[in-house]
Amino acid sequence: MTTNVISRNPETYIGLMSGTSLDAIDVALLDFTDDQINLLATHSHAFPDALKQTIQQLNQPGQRDEIHRMAVADLQLADVFAEAVSALLGQAGKQASSIKALGSHGQTIRHQPNDATPYTLQIGDPNRLAELTGITTVGDFRRRDMAAGGQGAPLAPAFHAALFRTTRENRTILNLGGMANLTLLPADLAQAVTGFDTGPGNILLNAWYQRHHNEAYDQNGLWAGTGQVSEQLLAALLELPFYSITPPRSTGREQFNLEYLDHILDQITLSPKPEAAPENIQATLSELTARSVAHALTTWGGDCARLLVCGGGVFNTDLLKRLAVQLPGLSIESCAAYGMAPEWIEAAAFAWLARQTLHHHSGNLAEVTGATHNVVLGGIYLS
Ligand SMILES: Nc1ncnc2c1ncn2[C@@H]1O[C@H](COP(=O)(O)OP(=O)(O)OP(=O)(O)O)[C@@H](O)[C@H]1O
Ligand SMILES: [Mg+2]
Repeated sequence: MTTNVISRNPETYIGLMSGTSLDAIDVALLDFTDDQINLLATHSHAFPDALKQTIQQLNQPGQRDEIHRMAVADLQLADVFAEAVSALLGQAGKQASSIKALGSHGQTIRHQPNDATPYTLQIGDPNRLAELTGITTVGDFRRRDMAAGGQGAPLAPAFHAALFRTTRENRTILNLGGMANLTLLPADLAQAVTGFDTGPGNILLNAWYQRHHNEAYDQNGLWAGTGQVSEQLLAALLELPFYSITPPRSTGREQFNLEYLDHILDQITLSPKPEAAPENIQATLSELTARSVAHALTTWGGDCARLLVCGGGVFNTDLLKRLAVQLPGLSIESCAAYGMAPEWIEAAAFAWLARQTLHHHSGNLAEVTGATHNVVLGGIYLS
């Protein structure tokens, strides 16, 4: 676990994000005085292994006694979230009473935006979180957008606009989390901000790496860099209908997981034999993320001068190299030099979204999620 205290300020919100990768629980302390966005302190909290496994299982349909297991995980997660908040406060030297609200995304265990009855489900009981932390908690952000006809995702684009939009140039933000998503920020303020999921970010890379190594992810994409891309496998992976859906669109673990990858690998016979070597599959998965991002950007991205990358995938050198090859002429940079460190954007977004809710301001962007209107998101659980 790591904690960095960046600075101190009186008016604060906390954002709590536990993303698709299940790599860590990220908590960020922000100050929004005078509508400025200042990251004050951050803490990355380790995920207990047993809980991680339960959540991975809950993401897959067909498990025994799902309701009971979900209810237990809902409470256990809230306890760990509360520990993460407490660690952040302790190390930042803040009292719970000085925090206006805590925005908690919760852990997604199902996201089915395209079902006949679309739904999305995040757990980590906000009742318990408010009770344990003594901080007003805003949770359950996604379902209100869905109730308004949206995909419930992505929700970070409004925050990306608040943080990164400029009238000087068209900018695009690429979040490389478990999933990858783009936010298009036109310089012309009369134009709408748009955004959508492009497909897998790190999720398949992590899953394949974990099958072959006893570590969470491929540091800097070193292993992927030793492999050769199998064009045959890549073509088979890119046949998935998701890649041709015109936005709004969002996706999750339900679509992109090891079972899906194994199914594709079973369907094709990789030849010559060396193509099937595990490092070649890893290289191909890295290329899949790069090509699906590039395809989405060239198809729906419009005229863009600069691509700012956030999320943990920004540290994957192999992936970024592949992106640069796919998007020649585009300036691709970490968002670090543009106002916030890339690994804290998602947690910070949920602090910002909690503030939007307390101020009765909308948090979604209808053009992004496909909702019929912008709406105040989430439920408020008072301290
Ligand atoms: N040094 C690194 N080299 C390669 N990959 C890295 C490195 N650091 C982080 N990552 C990748 O980033 C992932 C974590 O990113 P992040 O926290 O943004 O994802 P997430 O939790 O799924 O987020 P979200 O779903 O909210 O977008 C790790 O699981 C790993 O795949
Ligand atoms: Mg994460």
